[in-house]
This record gives sequence, structure tokens and C-alpha cells, in this order.
Amino acid sequence: MRADSHDHDTAPEIDPARLPRHVAIVMDGNGRWARARHLPRTVGHQRGRRAVRATIRAAMRRGVPLLTLFAFSSENWKRPVDEVDALMKLFINALEKELDELDENGVRLTFIGERSRLDASVRRLMEAAEARTAGNDRLQLQIAVSYGGQWDILQAARQLAERHARSPLALDDPETLHSAFETGLATAGQPPVDLFIRTGGERRLSNFLLWQAAYAELYFIDVLWPLFDESEFDRALTWFAGRERRFGRVDSNEANQ
Ligand code: IPE
Ligand code: IPE
Ligand code: MG
Repeated sequence: MRADSHDHDTAPEIDPARLPRHVAIVMDGNGRWARARHLPRTVGHQRGRRAVRATIRAAMRRGVPLLTLFAFSSENWKRPVDEVDALMKLFINALEKELDELDENGVRLTFIGERSRLDASVRRLMEAAEARTAGNDRLQLQIAVSYGGQWDILQAARQLAERHARSPLALDDPETLHSAFETGLATAGQPPVDLFIRTGGERRLSNFLLWQAAYAELYFIDVLWPLFDESEFDRALTWFAGRERRFGRVDSNEANQ
């Protein structure tokens, strides 16, 4: 993938100071894309890869530092075994094929999710990709596989309980409690989600980054994931740049009145 392949003449200007630090995407709509074309659902998933490549390219071009993609949820294990197998194969395939190029482009790959539910071969591949790209810093591409927001919160809570039992922490102090809890999340040390994108028309979180998206701007579009591209990503960034984020405070224009 080339980071400069987008047509600069048609790309909108976006103030770099108003870029999100963390974009999270629920890549939904592959099945419906396929069904509309009388194709098997897995063909939709295959087609989704193109959109993934375009999104990574767009994030790099704009200078978004962290992109988290929801590839497979805790609940997706309930799909028919054939579809789960096909999704896992596709994931392995994409990882093997794209790794060289991602590494060459300075992309750091990380994975979040319940790894114990994945095959050992998949886990090894993920660990190798993480180790190989650990020194890259152009874009952090984080893939959520077998991930659920509730799983993440519960495993962080369990870690905190274990740590506290070993050596008591000052959990009565709200700041200590907050930071001690966050160190156990799969996303420890990362900025919270600024922009949460969901394609495919549904307006729900589907158990994605629940804690991390507490103050995210939510961007829902009907476009099915296989049709998402660089200009769709730019549109989302442009929309985000126009948001007034208050975080519970009053409007910045009213603050001095
Ligand atoms: C999203 O597409 C991909 C995954 C959940 C892995 P879907 O497979 O959910 O597509 P729709 O929602 O059925 O169209
Ligand atoms: C969310 O999509 C999960 C991923 C995109 C990986 P789903 O299609 O699984 O979500 P629901 O079932 O419509 O909520
Ligand atoms: Mg879906």
C-alpha cells in the first residue's frame, strides 16, 4: 500500500490540531453487501479487506496516530462454525500477506481481545507481528479479535482485585482507583477513543470499547463496510473536526460570561 496514493486535489483540508488521537471502527455490513449481490457472506468479508487497506492508508496520510479496528467480537463466536473458520482463515491470510508492507510503512501492530479463545497458531502469528513491528511509530494499528468491552472491563477488574490482594492499594482515593483500574485494560496507556465510527447502518456499540469510548464522538453511517474508502474516512474526520467537545463543562464561548 502506498501512503501517497490518494488524490490530493480532491482531499479536503483538515486542521491537524483537530484530528482525533484515537479512531475506533466497527466494520459492519459485509454480510449484507454480499447478500445484495447473491454471494456467500464470506465473499463480503473478503471484500472488506480492501476497505481495511484504504482506511489504514487514509489514517497514515492524515496522521491519525491510533486506529483500532473491530475484526471479531466476543459474541461473533456464536456464528456458524463455518463462518467463524472462514473469518479466522481470512484474518491469518491478511496478516501474513500484509505484514511486510505494514512494517515497511512504519505501522506498529497490536491486538486486543481474549487470546486464550484463539488457536495457538493464530496467537503465535499475532505475537510475532507485534514483536516485529514494536519499534514502528508512524501509525499504531490495533486489531480487536475475540474482543468485548465487558470482557475487557471484567479482566481489568480481576487484575485489580489480584494486585490489591497481593499488596493493598489506596483504592479509597478516586484517582488511584481510576488509574490502577485503567492499567489493567487491554488499551492501557493509550488515549481514549475520540472518534467511534460504525458502518452498516446499525446505531449500537455491540460491546466494542465501552470504557474507552465513554466520551467518544459517535459517527454512524449506512455505507456497508466493503464500500468504505479513503473519502469516507476523510468525511468522518471532517465531521469530527466540527464537533464541540465539552466533557461535561459549559460551551467554551459561554465560559467567560
Ligand atoms: C461485519 O460484517 C464483520 C464481522 C462481524 C466479522 P457482518 O458479517 O456483521 O455483516 P452484516 O452485519 O451481516 O451485514
Ligand atoms: C460488530 O458487528 C462486530 C464486528 C464488526 C467485528 P456485529 O454484526 O457482530 O454486531 P451486531 O450483532 O449487529 O450487534
Ligand atoms: Mg453485522
